[in-house]
Order: sequence, then C-alpha cells, then structure tokens
Amino acid sequence: MPVLAVNVDHVATLRQARMGIEPEPVTAAYMAEMAGATGIIVHLREDRRHIQDRDVELIRKTCNTRLNLEMAATKEMQGIALEIDPEFVCLVPEKRQELTTEGGLNCIGREKELADYLTPLRAKGIRSSLFIDADPKQIEAASATGTEFIEIHTGHYADAKEITARNKELAKILDAIKLARNIGLKVNLGHGLNYRNILAFKDVTGISEYSIGHSIMARAIYIGLDRAVRDMAELIRTFVD
Ligand code: PXP
Repeated sequence: MPVLAVNVDHVATLRQARMGIEPEPVTAAYMAEMAGATGIIVHLREDRRHIQDRDVELIRKTCNTRLNLEMAATKEMQGIALEIDPEFVCLVPEKRQELTTEGGLNCIGREKELADYLTPLRAKGIRSSLFIDADPKQIEAASATGTEFIEIHTGHYADAKEITARNKELAKILDAIKLARNIGLKVNLGHGLNYRNILAFKDVTGISEYSIGHSIMARAIYIGLDRAVRDMAELIRTFVD
C-alpha cells in the first residue's frame, strides 16, 4: 500500500511572509502525523526562503514517523544531513529564482559524483531518493548512483492544461514507474499532486509514497478558515463598544 509523506514547507512560507513566529512547521508536522501522514518532508533551501535550520532541528526531535530532508546536492547540505540524521534525503535541483522546484535533477553524466555524494550519508544509514523527470535515461542514470528510491516529478502532469498533454505526461510517468521497478528502484511520486489529479494513480502498482505539500496546505486553509474566523468574531463580540 502506498503511503503519504506531507511536505510542510508552505507553513514556513506563511510564517516567513511576516518573519514572525507563526505558524510553526513543527506543529503542522506533528498534526500531520496525528492525522495519518507516514512521513514529514522539509526542503531546506540554500536561500532559506521558507524552512529554517531550527525548523529542521525541531522536526527532527519531534518527528515520530520518517523525516525526509529535501535538499540540493551541495557540501553544506551534506554536512547538515549528516548532523540532523534524517531517515531519508531527497536530492533536488535548486535554482535561486525559481518559485518552486521546476524540474528533475540531472543524473546523466553525474552518476559517480552523485554516488560519491551519497556514500557518507548511506554509511550513516540515511536512505536516499533522487527527484527526477519521468525520462528513461534519467532513471537508468539514477539507478547507477546506487540510490534506493527515485521520486518521479509529477509537476508536468499536474500543470498540463489540455487533456491530451496531461495524458501524455501521465503515460510518461506510468512507463517510468514500470521501468524503474524493473531495474530494482523504489518509486515515490511528487509535485503538484492534488485531490483530483492523484486519482489517476489509484490503480497503479509499484508506487511507494506520495509526497504532497501545497494542495494539503491549501485545503487546510479552506477547512480551517470557518473556525478561525468564528473564533475571532466571537472573541471580539465580548469586547466593550
Ligand atoms: N517533491 C519535491 C521534490 C518537491 O520539491 C516538492 C515541492 O516542494 C514536492 C514533492 C511537493 O510538491 P507540492 O507542494 O506541489 O505538493
């Protein structure tokens, strides 16, 4: 049965918009676990635009499931991962100007470099995943790094506006899952998945985990807004006029 790992980056995005103290990603992570998430994901970006180092430290201390540290394959992040000791790292490409991770990691021609990068992490028992596009060549290259998992980038599928383009992207993902499983890789899916487009994978075998952030946090606002406004309105009604 596939499982759900919840990405709490957007909780930090909201906090950082005010550089304030709320909402706390660590609280969101705890609530996500209580609601059934089997893993928590945080992307510690080089520019620290959302998740901060102290968030990773706090979530590491309180995470009762599996912490997946999403990160660029840099020396700095390798050091942090070794220090934090998450259950998983997921290597992603990172561009300073991008709104979110735009494409998969390029593994072609970098097989040895990535294998060497993962070696000290693996020696510590940290498992790895490489976030890649649904491209057979990338899958072969990812496999050559010795990674246990790949995470197939579902963003192109999720973003496709036209049905034909969406089906084409879906077919690429389905082929990629088959190929990856055939060569012994475990497969996660992530990026842009929501309560509608995820249904396409309902009967697909071979998927270990779904990595989802934005749509869950968006739904949390809709579901929680009614109560949040009622609580404030009720409080204000008790004031003198
Ligand atoms: N997987 C990876 C590698 C990502 O970079 C992201 C976005 O941070 C996600 C999954 C989750 O994507 P979304 O927030 O669109 O659900």
